[in-house]
Amino acid sequence: MAMEMGYLQFGLQQRIYQGSGCITMLPHILATEGWTKVFLIADPGLYKAGVIKPVEDILNSIEGVETHVFTNVRPNPEAVTIDNEAIPAMLKFGGQVLIAVGGGSTMDTAKGVAIVGDSGGKCMDYASWDWPHDKPYPHNTFPIIAVPTTAGTGSEVCRNAVICNEQGEKVVPSHDSILPKYAIMDPDFLAGLPFPIAAATSVDTLTHALETYTNTRANEFTELFSLRSLELVGESIRGFVANPANDEYADKMSRACMYAGFSLGIASIGQDHVITHPMSEEPFHMPHGDACGMVLPAVIEFNTMGCREKYRKAYNALTKSNLSESEFNVQLLIDWVINLNIDLHIAEDKTFEEWGYNDDDVLDLMMSHPIVEFGIRVNSDNRMCEYPRKTTAQDYRQLIKRVNEYSKIQAKKAKRI
Ligand SMILES: [Fe+2]
Repeated sequence: MAMEMGYLQFGLQQRIYQGSGCITMLPHILATEGWTKVFLIADPGLYKAGVIKPVEDILNSIEGVETHVFTNVRPNPEAVTIDNEAIPAMLKFGGQVLIAVGGGSTMDTAKGVAIVGDSGGKCMDYASWDWPHDKPYPHNTFPIIAVPTTAGTGSEVCRNAVICNEQGEKVVPSHDSILPKYAIMDPDFLAGLPFPIAAATSVDTLTHALETYTNTRANEFTELFSLRSLELVGESIRGFVANPANDEYADKMSRACMYAGFSLGIASIGQDHVITHPMSEEPFHMPHGDACGMVLPAVIEFNTMGCREKYRKAYNALTKSNLSESEFNVQLLIDWVINLNIDLHIAEDKTFEEWGYNDDDVLDLMMSHPIVEFGIRVNSDNRMCEYPRKTTAQDYRQLIKRVNEYSKIQAKKAKRI
């Protein structure tokens, strides 16, 4: 990993369609690839609500194409469901391609099926980070067409998946074979998003843009995309959450998500995405995007001495300002995030303590999370640190306490307490 750091590296190893109505490219894709047996993985709620129907209708209208629908997608997909249900169904059907229509969990389920492919193995056999992401597996993996119905995870343009093992821990397989071969980012699918989901997923995109921009692996290529993503977020996030059926705002959030996703594949995330992992598990079970928003002010505060100039540029991009170095104060960026969190009712306006946090055993529980331990191991070392500021275990403890304090500041500012 460290070997690559000195080089400008990029490459878009997939075909992407983005824009209103681009789902109509589906027949062209299937015809080009010669895929006739489609395993359609869909979120059960969206399937019931009829959101998937336009995709099914398109597939049914293509002569010679046979579709098998799989809807047992869990909110945090477990390896056991993928191993025992999705993979056997895919193999029995003889599918040639996976089409994932939904949010992050749907795409993660598809990625779990894809990575196992025809190996005869199980999901967790391929979750190891020891196997290089660009070294092909000895077995055939399945291609994916990703059709996101939220503008948040960026999973459609990433080679990572998040899958729970038998202990309920989130594991992150990462391999080029699970980067969707096609991403169809049609903002028309965002139109029906409920307010809390539109809010949380959009804040996830903001966090990806900001963390990739300030990550030390960022390069000229990723910085272009991260900054553009921040501009689009600034222009559209409130309007989009207010009404995701607004074509202009939906298109901008869709692109913001896509651009931040490009950066994610190279520059990766920061401490926010480390701390948010335990926040989606016991005792919190907080939606990922809500956790991202709650953690962000504390992370910005902590990182400032390492990347003040980038925060100035990020703030200018978000707010269409042109503040000079002497005019910029990082508090402006922190306040911008807090005000956004308030407007978007991030974390249901509850404080961290109301979600179940305390400075004692819950803090210890968070610190013992495998992703937090991994984050500490990698990023407390000067040479390997990917964050703007070296972050030790003690720093993480302090950061998490500051998250709690900021959540109270936010609640107070919202005049709720
Ligand atoms: Fe995220």
